[in-house]
Amino acid sequence: MEDIIKRIEKLSLLNDYLTPRIIKERNVKLGLRNPDGTGVVVGITTKGRVDGYKRIRKEGRKNEYAINPVPGKLYYCGYDIEKLVEEYEKQNRYGFEEVAYLLITGELPARSDYRKFAREIGKRRALSKAERQIIMGEVQNDNQMYALHSVISHLSRCDEEADSTDINNVCRQSINLIAKFPVIVATNYNVLRYSKGADLRIVRPKPELSTAENFLYMLQGEKPDADDARLFDIAMILHAEHGGGNNSTFSVRTVSSSGANTYMAIAAGIASLSGHLHGGANEQVKDMIKDLKREVSNWDSERSIKSYLAKILERKAGDRSGKIYGFGHAVYTMSDPRAIMLKEYARKLAVKKGYEEEFALYDHVERIASKMLADRNKKIISANVDFYSGFVYEMLGIPKELYTPIFAMARVVGWCAHRIEQIMQGKIIRPAYIQVSLEEKSFVPMQDR
Ligand code: ACO
Repeated sequence: MEDIIKRIEKLSLLNDYLTPRIIKERNVKLGLRNPDGTGVVVGITTKGRVDGYKRIRKEGRKNEYAINPVPGKLYYCGYDIEKLVEEYEKQNRYGFEEVAYLLITGELPARSDYRKFAREIGKRRALSKAERQIIMGEVQNDNQMYALHSVISHLSRCDEEADSTDINNVCRQSINLIAKFPVIVATNYNVLRYSKGADLRIVRPKPELSTAENFLYMLQGEKPDADDARLFDIAMILHAEHGGGNNSTFSVRTVSSSGANTYMAIAAGIASLSGHLHGGANEQVKDMIKDLKREVSNWDSERSIKSYLAKILERKAGDRSGKIYGFGHAVYTMSDPRAIMLKEYARKLAVKKGYEEEFALYDHVERIASKMLADRNKKIISANVDFYSGFVYEMLGIPKELYTPIFAMARVVGWCAHRIEQIMQGKIIRPAYIQVSLEEKSFVPMQDR
């Protein structure tokens, strides 16, 4: 007798497949993409702006446009992130809290508001007994995104005002989450280490530290090196927001639009970010480079690197997905500004920490992969934020399991900012689907099938 799961699989493959022809004929924009690869406009925001191309009207054609690749730019509420980071570096201070304030409120804080806000974040870090208990119960699975997701979705049950979408309440919940995410990630990880035989490390958050310092402190058990903490702060700033259309933020906006509570909406963002085509790519890059090192002994050999990458594209190496992780983007073309910045920080840190050969390998892979992908797909495909971020974290002594949770604990800022905006816009997100088998079927009794 045929296994019922196999039978269901066979029918799914048979009946769920829609030909590219039908999709084109019905003018369906799969992935919410226009035929030229640009995104379908589905919303409006005051938060992040992502520029990756210019649309130029074709000469003599009224409604036809060509896509011109341009160097990528990213703005937070109108401020160029490159300039923001430059200022924090110049002033030798932490910027993540200020960026969080900016994204939530739309304005840079005056000094006194900044102090109050940063103090509030520090104060709200401590986990309650109930929150700690959830974490202690979550040691069965190593994946730290699953652990984070479980804790956040459980928080609905620890908040007496969980369901109120009054903006004051949502602001309170947002600040709580921005404060607690890094503490939850670090505590989850310390519990995981313990479950694997390491000594139990109970580290309570310190309210007087910046978010970046406190996270590294909770992982290492001692106050981190100031340069390391500042670089980690910059990495968090670069991951804090990316417009309304990125997969996780759009998920948060979609769930928020139904009236669901803050924890449910943010859990949707975590779920989306865990995917290997989105935030999960930073851990995949690390696995890919590890696999490459196993296969390629001469890191300077362009031929060997190219042959390994070709195997990935042919699904014969790596995770067999055919993806070279850390490359490509739905909006950016010539460059991802975050990748460019992280690369320069990685270069400097590699010299300081003795990782020069490794940096050179990343650099070779970047050059070779971009060219191979461009030749194959007839479009510019460059390194994205995930290509160098994990390498920076590795040099800071952070374990791979935390690369994607770190992305989440920075991006929770953008998610919360968009959630508040979505609640105020008020309209439930409900796009349309075409059902293709138009003829109505008559029910056939079971004995006649
Ligand atoms: N490896 C292999 N092929 C790629 C890659 C890549 N890194 N990037 C793009 N391509 C291919 C696509 O599969 C597509 O081929 P197809 O036409 O045969 O389907 C073609 O190039 C054109 O793709 P795009 O339209 O430019 O990319 P899309 O917008 O569909 O996808 C994505 C963007 C998912 C990021 C893609 O580039 C990818 O899979 N990259 C690898 C995963 C990754 O690094 N993700 C992190 C992105 S950044 C972030 O989310 C934080």
